[in-house]
Amino acid sequence: MQNPFLAKGYLSPKFFCDREKETEMLLSNIQNGIDTTLISPRKLGKTGLIHHTFYKIAEEKLPYNTIYVDIFATLSLKDFIKTLAESILAEFPEKTTIGNKFMTLLKGYRPVITYDPVSGLPQVEFSFAIPSEKEYTLKGLFAFLNSQKQHVVLAFDEFQQITAYPEKNVEALLRTYTQQMHNISFIYCGSKKSIMTQMFTDVARPFYSSTRQLSLDKIDAEKYSAFIREKFAPAQVDDDAMNYILEWSRLHTFYTQSLCNEIFKMKPKVVTLSIVRMACREILETESSNFMQIRNLITDQQWLLLIAIAKEQSVQSVTSAQFLAKYQLGSATNARRNLESLTEKELLLETIGLNDKSYSVYNVFLSRWLEETY
Ligand SMILES: Nc1ncnc2c1ncn2[C@@H]1O[C@H](COP(=O)(O)OP(=O)(O)OP(=O)(O)O)[C@@H](O)[C@H]1O
Ligand SMILES: [Mg+2]
Repeated sequence: MQNPFLAKGYLSPKFFCDREKETEMLLSNIQNGIDTTLISPRKLGKTGLIHHTFYKIAEEKLPYNTIYVDIFATLSLKDFIKTLAESILAEFPEKTTIGNKFMTLLKGYRPVITYDPVSGLPQVEFSFAIPSEKEYTLKGLFAFLNSQKQHVVLAFDEFQQITAYPEKNVEALLRTYTQQMHNISFIYCGSKKSIMTQMFTDVARPFYSSTRQLSLDKIDAEKYSAFIREKFAPAQVDDDAMNYILEWSRLHTFYTQSLCNEIFKMKPKVVTLSIVRMACREILETESSNFMQIRNLITDQQWLLLIAIAKEQSVQSVTSAQFLAKYQLGSATNARRNLESLTEKELLLETIGLNDKSYSVYNVFLSRWLEETY
């Protein structure tokens, strides 16, 4: 039997817990011509939500073409254009009428097109002689989508990546083009909260106030436990075991999924607390060599700070005299510098509340491992 707890990717609604409200909001934005920014910490389920929404659109035969563009690996505007072209080709295969038209348009830009020997998917390589050719091509791709009979939904995943491109004007350029495309709804998705928020809420930035923000939070505990029980059935899940699963993985989707996946592998007749604990131990043992690598990438003081925050689960006043003394973390100035550095490296997660900020170890398994090991 297939393990029902996916630790990567999206299959179908059967393996997807809740997110009903968020899916509704995304659909409503699409239906009302509103672009969306989708922001959350890593591994909470942004990409899953996009695929889930696109799945619903297909299942319910809603009149939209959906295109998913993952720009995580792109390093320049040229890569961006290549990835966009390939994603369009993936949605409209060459043998369809639209795909055929798109291929004709694409060939006008004289790219080299090859086919991946494994997936069979086309790969596009452009060579631009001058910058204006890039802009011309990008505009051409958007204009093609915009001219389709059926409305297009275009999702850019890891959108913050555009701020790392060497070309200076990408944000302004994209804003100018996307604003003109009335037949396309855009979804901009990203996990680097500070970069994404600045991009969309800073008055001086091109994308200022152009979208509605959808912040993804943790899945509701009751809904998640109902989902977990359903997937383990006919095996029962003891109440203390369920509490431990949700608490230990902090309801952080990827970690909850991975833990349940591990428990399911053991094929228990009843999911008891001791089985859950065994699965936790198994996960930490497997991961420990990766975690030890991290030790070599940061300073001693940073490592100590990481352990201290892991032990406290979540810390608000990292520079308070009491906290510094308890874990021998040195001066407040140093602690603040280390805090910034660890947050920048995504080893710490900064959570901003109404009146305060708090910090926790970003990777929940690393947090549990530090807590137990030191
Ligand atoms: N609603 C859900 N129900 C069950 N599993 C989910 C759900 N959402 C996400 N997952 C699972 O959790 C993991 C992380 O989800 P996903 O990749 O969508 O997160 P993400 O926010 O896009 O992360 P990143 O910022 O790293 O790209 C995946 O393995 C996915 O299968
Ligand atoms: Mg993602």
